Amino acid sequence: MSERSKVFVTREIPAAGLDRVVAACDADVWKEPLPPSRDELLRRIAGCEGVLSLLTEKVDAEFMDAAGAQLKVISNFAVGYNNIDVAEATRRGIRVGNTPDVLTDATADMAFSLLISAARRMIECQDYVRDAKWKTWEPLGHIGVDLIGRTIGIVGMGRIGMAMAKRCHGGWGMRVLYHDNYQNKNAEAEFGARQVDFDTLLAESDFVSVHTDLNETTQGMFNAEAFGKMKPTAVFINSARGPIHNQPDLYAALKAGQIFAAGLDVTDPEPISMDDPLLSLSNCVIAPHVASATISSRNGMAEIAADNLLAGLKGDPLRCPVA
Ligand code: GLV
Repeated sequence: MSERSKVFVTREIPAAGLDRVVAACDADVWKEPLPPSRDELLRRIAGCEGVLSLLTEKVDAEFMDAAGAQLKVISNFAVGYNNIDVAEATRRGIRVGNTPDVLTDATADMAFSLLISAARRMIECQDYVRDAKWKTWEPLGHIGVDLIGRTIGIVGMGRIGMAMAKRCHGGWGMRVLYHDNYQNKNAEAEFGARQVDFDTLLAESDFVSVHTDLNETTQGMFNAEAFGKMKPTAVFINSARGPIHNQPDLYAALKAGQIFAAGLDVTDPEPISMDDPLLSLSNCVIAPHVASATISSRNGMAEIAADNLLAGLKGDPLRCPVA
């Protein structure tokens, strides 16, 4: 690491990581609440040896060209890294790091809270109370779907999928199905999980929760055809990446009652357009991509992102490398 390497930090992150970056580097920290424009970003990274990026920044060949040949490391403040062209970075000898593990439980908690909120119609219930429509106890009102003993279908049985399976199986006695390219023997041993093809998962699950990364195969995998194969009582949860579902198709399925409800922590695009008809539905719970937003997760992410950045600048192995 040269004397105080020049780095760009694309947003203020928790002090647990930022303070160390600022102490060790010649750090330019973008302090605005909104991301820098593309032009501003490309200007700011010129001459940097490292960048601490967020999922809102597209880190592609143009970005790497704008930075220059001295760029050594891209440290993403996220577990997902679909915003980075990792193959291009690798080709150029630039290391890429992410922040896994520390956000696993927080993300599974969020997925589960979306599941229970959607299943029990929480948005509709809250609107009902706030709109002064609550006049009496209603034997037939706001009937939701049960959770105990139902079937959870998990798409992507990695760390977060496992944590979701643990909650659903251990807490609510659910049968666990999963769809993944890889067999997960731990999930099978711990939760009796069964690996199935996508159609079986769609047909048999009461709840379908997405925990896979966004890639060419998963982009748009939840489309009209997939929603059409789900039960009319099913709840769809996406806390992974918005483009994994086709949003107009999801709207149509919810509107037509093809599925019962949905809970989203991610949308396509982000932020969701205020014209998006999904916002008019009471059977769709939407959060603004906050699954990792807990104190320990965000501090842990900041620490790992700082470790990755500082190690990459020195030419040391990253704490959490993706490439
Ligand atoms: C958030 O979505 C992350 O990938 O960490």
